[in-house]
Amino acid sequence: MPGRLTGKIALITGATGGIGSATAELFAREGASLVVADIAEEALRDLAARLEAKGADVLAARLDVSSSENWGEVIELTRQRFGRLDVLVNIAGIVDWPGIEGTEQESWDRVIAVNQTGTWLGMKTAMPLLRASGNASIVNTSSVLGLIGSGVAAAYQASKGAVRLLTKTAAVEYATQGVRVNSVHPGVIATPMIQDILDEQGDQQPDVVRTPMRRAGSPAEIAPAMLFLASDESSFVTGTELIVDGGLTAH
Ligand SMILES: NC(=O)c1ccc[n+]([C@@H]2O[C@H](COP(=O)([O-])OP(=O)(O)OC[C@H]3O[C@@H](n4cnc5c(N)ncnc54)[C@H](O)[C@@H]3O)[C@@H](O)[C@H]2O)c1
Repeated sequence: MPGRLTGKIALITGATGGIGSATAELFAREGASLVVADIAEEALRDLAARLEAKGADVLAARLDVSSSENWGEVIELTRQRFGRLDVLVNIAGIVDWPGIEGTEQESWDRVIAVNQTGTWLGMKTAMPLLRASGNASIVNTSSVLGLIGSGVAAAYQASKGAVRLLTKTAAVEYATQGVRVNSVHPGVIATPMIQDILDEQGDQQPDVVRTPMRRAGSPAEIAPAMLFLASDESSFVTGTELIVDGGLTAH
């Protein structure tokens, strides 16, 4: 039986992380051929081996999303290996927790470079191949912290707010060119990014307490949102924000 992504070539950044690897595994199960990209080279080799063992067609590419040169290389490798690209999922991200006064410029610059500039560079560099596909989808990863203020994580909040609107303007720009662009906004998700906080504070973690479902989500609960937006099932959906947060932003 064909999968929901059969015949599609999908590039996933941040592919070895919690949400990235769950997404890569689900996309492979649904028949996509994959370019898995991450800055963590060893984890990338392990992920590619895992996916290949399950029969997936995989190209693993080391990528620092903040580098336009790196992006150029990875898109060229994609073109050489698969000849085209149908789906780009920008998942790579980093967090820095201090608020406005506590944030050092160096970490501000890095968070913006990875989360915000990295998302723009990905769209910019992949766009010629995506346009050529004629039926392409970009999924950008924002956050609930791209929607509401928290009082902490100033650089992260700024970057995720930017990803939200970058997504919408790209959706408008490419709406008649066969490229849809949407954002996913996870709530509190148990991944390496926040695992130490969850381990320390458990169910008493303030954002978990504020989540109506009273628990953190799992990466496997975010991957299906990525899949819906990547697949042809969302053919009339562009510029939208898909919130997956256990109700956190509902009140
Ligand atoms: N975990 C959460 O609660 C949560 C909530 C909302 C949004 N998000 C977002 O989801 C995305 C995935 O995060 P996660 O929770 O899976 O965290 P994670 O730390 O498990 O994964 C992040 C991945 O990005 C990669 N990465 C970091 N810098 C990179 C760079 N410069 N170039 C390429 N890859 C790089 C890391 O190596 C890692 O594999 C991020 O954009 C994050 O901001 C996470």
